[in-house]
Amino acid sequence: MIIIFKVKIPATTTNLGPGFDCLGMSVELFNFITVEKSDTLEIVIPDDEKGIIPTDDTNLIVQAMKKSYDYLGVAFIPVKITQENNIPFARGLGSSAACIVGGILAANKLSGEKLDFEEMLSLAVSMDGHPDNVLPAFLGGMTAASMDENKKVTYVKLMPHDKFQFVFIIPNFHLKTSDARKVLPNEYSFHDAVHSSGNAVVLTASLVNGLEGNLKAACEDYLHQPYRKSLIPNYDLVKNKAYALGAHAFYLSGAGPTMCCIVTGDAQLFIKSMSEYLEGIGEYKLFSSPASSKGAEIF
Ligand code: HSE
Repeated sequence: MIIIFKVKIPATTTNLGPGFDCLGMSVELFNFITVEKSDTLEIVIPDDEKGIIPTDDTNLIVQAMKKSYDYLGVAFIPVKITQENNIPFARGLGSSAACIVGGILAANKLSGEKLDFEEMLSLAVSMDGHPDNVLPAFLGGMTAASMDENKKVTYVKLMPHDKFQFVFIIPNFHLKTSDARKVLPNEYSFHDAVHSSGNAVVLTASLVNGLEGNLKAACEDYLHQPYRKSLIPNYDLVKNKAYALGAHAFYLSGAGPTMCCIVTGDAQLFIKSMSEYLEGIGEYKLFSSPASSKGAEIF
């Protein structure tokens, strides 16, 4: 069978504390989708994801392709899809966004590249519900975005200072975003809204300008982390240890359960010390990455 093309999509870390539903960043961890010609739809997934990821037309990549074809008024083009998933599933690292972005890019390629970026973004946002994961998955870097009542997205791409490394601490359980949103309140006080938006602005500018001294205070928020931390065993222990080991900031990646520490200097040394500490506490995987400047690519 002839391989037509591959799509490479980065993992994303969103919210970064106070940037709830608006701030996101791509990291150097990638999923690959291989698309081959086929007479029928066929989906191949990694062995360890069997029973977790559907291999019928409810598969999220296929859903994103269908959404794109429906928008274009094009009939579904049958293909064989092989997923190589390095982004852990349902851990707050953008695994769903990678499927959505990958599916839209694949469908666009297969149907003659008729979609412009704004159309692809709009399709992706209509599926993911918010722009903070899909934008950096498409564009790379760090993105700040807002969405109006008509779901029109206004955004800007930035690059965090290259001195920053992001160390991800991934617990050994899944947490669906929909479940992590259920614990959030429907209303917030004036104080909580003002404090969180102030921190989101300070955090964004400090990441770009390399002002690590601002990050610890700026990563605090009153919108989601105080509510979601109850879903994540050992959250406060890990947070306290991160600061004791010299992290400049600690936040919940996306909706969790992955936690992220922003460090400068030797990230591997930080990982070694944190791993030793975590051994007695639970099962975690750790990795570090800078912000990935590149977004999704077809090759
Ligand atoms: N901003 C979303 C949330 C991201 O926190 O619910 C989920 O990946």
